[in-house]
Amino acid sequence: MLGVSAVAATELLHHLRSSPDVARLLSILERGPAAYIVGGTVRDLLLGREPLDLDVVVDGPLDPLLALLGAPARAHDQFETATLMLGDVRCDLARSRSERYARPGALPQVRPAPIEQDLLRRDFTVNAIALAVSGTRAGELLFAPRALEDLDAGLLAVLYERSFSDDPTRLLRLIRYSSRLGFGVRASTYALVTGAVSAGAVATVAGPRLGAELRLLAAEPEPVSALAALAPFGLDAAVELGFGLDGREPAVTALALLGDDGDRAALALAVALLGIAEAGRLVLLARLGFDATRRDLIAETARLGPALAPRLRRARAASSVAAAVGRAPLEAVALAGALGARTNAQRWIEQLRFVALSITGADVVAAGVAPGPAVGAGLRAALAAKLDGRVGDSDGELAEALRRARGRAGGADRAGGADCADRAGGADRADRAGGVDCAGSADGPDCAGRAEG
Ligand code: CTP
Repeated sequence: MLGVSAVAATELLHHLRSSPDVARLLSILERGPAAYIVGGTVRDLLLGREPLDLDVVVDGPLDPLLALLGAPARAHDQFETATLMLGDVRCDLARSRSERYARPGALPQVRPAPIEQDLLRRDFTVNAIALAVSGTRAGELLFAPRALEDLDAGLLAVLYERSFSDDPTRLLRLIRYSSRLGFGVRASTYALVTGAVSAGAVATVAGPRLGAELRLLAAEPEPVSALAALAPFGLDAAVELGFGLDGREPAVTALALLGDDGDRAALALAVALLGIAEAGRLVLLARLGFDATRRDLIAETARLGPALAPRLRRARAASSVAAAVGRAPLEAVALAGALGARTNAQRWIEQLRFVALSITGADVVAAGVAPGPAVGAGLRAALAAKLDGRVGDSDGELAEALRRARGRAGGADRAGGADCADRAGGADRADRAGGVDCAGSADGPDCAGRAEG
């Protein structure tokens, strides 16, 4: 038991004031109409967690307050909500309001209303708690019925029956909170979730809004648990047939291989897309409002990871591993590692990708090679030699680069020539030959280079 109801509101205010930026905001709020800290901020403070942001509701127009805060005039939107940065703290301000949904899944029509109504329109009881910072009730905690009991018991419950059909994004918010906070779902709310999902509520939400919730879900500290928690409710299939994690593997292994140096959310989403055909993935990501860069990264990871796995597993020499990876993104290598090529994926992620030449193309040109493709071929050969430990310093690198570049310039570049270390059975033979120069990538033809004999 958390003993939430015993927590004094003044303690929470004291904690908030420990940040000078927030203390300044509070002192400005104290001069205006009744204002409240609400939502996730109060929930997290009461749970003893550090809030992710600051949610403020004001029972009055936002403009005078924004002016006092030094925000540009008309900084708020049509719903009278505004976002400011207070130092590092993101602050979401809104005018206290009631909401009415013209149809399921639509954006609500809002109108100013007192805090009591504002609390009752919210998603979950545990988010319907307000800490008054000014006005006649300053220093008091206000809350919807059962809000403190649910917080105490670790349960998520909606405030009214139509909540999920009004705003089906709350189905995904429920998954996000249950995964992050480790909360259960109150039985009556559980029944409403399954009812809303089977009634097709998710399909009424515009793609980008649904996508925004999925992006938040994948950005949770534990994205695998968060995405896996969609399945018991059928929410993954409600996004798209085939979407979702089929168990926790391979996502857990892929994320462990990726470590902190990559886009964890993109990787988790790529795994969740593996059950959808390639063309369908791009269509879905576009419908969900992913920007082009993110869409490409996720789709490329889902496409290349499985293709890369067998080639990466076969590679022996370090240069063959690097050649198999080619230009595949880090996330795709991590996925390939989770799909059977763990050792080589780890080798590349932890060591090989950091190996770089000390020489540049300018050095090769300065040594007499005409600018052109031969320079690139020389550099690739030098890098392969360095990866395999056959050259140790810049002189060795240059010698290797020149050997290769001159051989190439001299007509030795027989297109489609000899073996590639990536081809089945080729790795050992090419490695023993000691001159792998494979520029192939997981993306293109198996290998654009050859083993020198
Ligand atoms: N809210 C809601 N219905 C939604 C979105 C938000 O009722 N579809 C309300 C909730 O009361 C929520 C508050 O608006 O607490 C602020 O929303 P948001 O910032 O998205 O969530 P937080 O509660 O701050 O949660 P988080 O910790 O994830 O930021």
